[in-house]
Amino acid sequence: MNLLVVSFVLFLASAAIAKYTQQHKSYFSTHTYYDLVRGDIPNVPECKAERLWLFSRHGTRYPHHHELKAFNDLDDLRHRIIKNSEQHKRGTLSKDDLKLFKKWNLEVKKKDAGKITKSGEKELHHLGERLLQHFPQLLSSYSKDGVKINTSSKKRAKQSAKAMLSGIYGQPPEVTDSMVNDDLLLVRGQCPAWDESTESKEAKRESSSFKSGEVVQEVAKQVSDRLGFKDSLSVDTVETMYKMCGYEQAWHHKHTSPWCIPFSKDHLKVLEYLEDLKKYYKGAYGNPLSGKLGCRIVADLNDSLKQAQRNVSLYFSHDEEMRVLLVGLGIAEDQKRPTAANYAAMDSRQWRTSKLIPFSANILAVSYRCQNESDSKVGIFLNEHLLKLGKCQGQELCPLEQFLQAYSSTVDPSICNMDFCTL
Ligand SMILES: *[C@@H]1O[C@H](CO)[C@@H](O)[C@H](O)[C@H]1NC(C)=O
Ligand SMILES: *[C@@H]1O[C@H](CO)[C@@H](O)[C@H](O)[C@H]1NC(C)=O
Ligand SMILES: *[C@@H]1O[C@H](CO)[C@@H](O)[C@H](O)[C@H]1NC(C)=O
Ligand SMILES: *[C@@H]1O[C@H](CO)[C@@H](O)[C@H](O)[C@H]1NC(C)=O
Repeated sequence: MNLLVVSFVLFLASAAIAKYTQQHKSYFSTHTYYDLVRGDIPNVPECKAERLWLFSRHGTRYPHHHELKAFNDLDDLRHRIIKNSEQHKRGTLSKDDLKLFKKWNLEVKKKDAGKITKSGEKELHHLGERLLQHFPQLLSSYSKDGVKINTSSKKRAKQSAKAMLSGIYGQPPEVTDSMVNDDLLLVRGQCPAWDESTESKEAKRESSSFKSGEVVQEVAKQVSDRLGFKDSLSVDTVETMYKMCGYEQAWHHKHTSPWCIPFSKDHLKVLEYLEDLKKYYKGAYGNPLSGKLGCRIVADLNDSLKQAQRNVSLYFSHDEEMRVLLVGLGIAEDQKRPTAANYAAMDSRQWRTSKLIPFSANILAVSYRCQNESDSKVGIFLNEHLLKLGKCQGQELCPLEQFLQAYSSTVDPSICNMDFCTL
């Protein structure tokens, strides 16, 4: 890509440093917070919900252990930023910006690493309340036979289940180890071929190449200028700042993290694309094995829509499982693949992880019985937006038999099995 294109892509960024605002907040990939992204489940008039199946990612959490070192190192960077501004009069931070940097410290305690935050509990609790409000016939009372609740074995999934159940049921069932179902809800460690494929060179090629390319380097340079560094900070450091910003605004929606300040909206879109590339090739449409794992979750949905005794299924899982499920269902697949070379052309792509897999992301399937119609209909909601289903001629409510037919080859046990996992 030539320099002209790069400066066009980042034009707004260099033209004026716009203040960091609400509009900037929804570009943080899987660290975006749910309320920025969610829709409102519409009422479906003349129809009665008869079955409900929910697959949910855990809520906003603290960083994992392995992320903490890089975030701790931001403390040193913070001192250098303050020095750049106060002693060397470099950079373009305002007095208020500097105040935020001066006050900052990393609020995560080691023992909290990976756990759900207060804001994460609230997200799920409120989602539970909204579900109850929309589907009172199905959710107002809990019975062991009518409701299947499964979580992965991870603490954050169990905490999320607890938070959502407290929003749905006045007297929530206790979340116990008997609800753990890693076969369905935690792919990592179960399928050697999959684990290997996500670490392969192939999986990293596009993101590495984008990361070292001109567009990302230009972001690093502009951010460094803004903070008063003569030499550009490394892209790794800029990514750490971006992630810290995303986390801190997911923890405290109203507070501005100093680590957000250096970024323009265009910078954030570039960094979002870098994340989108990583996730796409590691574990979505860019990895041919992902559909083979996602089909197992689709098979569970297939079973739950018609055959199963129970009429409610609630699952609590993770980002990676959400991605393979999106692939299994054929949601958000672009005609062109995102690559290191087509950032600008992919501006209106569907594969946008911030919109697809924020914290507390969920896919909800509801089957409805509608007046005067003999067949049930299925609606699929992504983060509370009703989807037009590509596999069902773009219809929002898909006749059940047509829906099952559309996915019958996906869930066919002769295709959908774990045989490929053995290396
Ligand atoms: C859901 O299943 C339970 C238990 O099988 C049953 O009592 C209830 O009537 C069902 N609810 C609906 C709306 O079909
Ligand atoms: C899933 O949860 C139900 C309780 O809701 C439990 O009976 C079952 O054993 C759990 N695990 C699996 C693998 O279904
Ligand atoms: C999918 O659902 C249909 C209808 O309930 C059923 O006949 C079929 O066996 C199911 N397939 C799988 C793989 O579960
Ligand atoms: C359903 O059928 C009833 C009686 O046959 C009719 O009055 C009503 O308008 C129909 N509703 C719809 C949505 O077609």
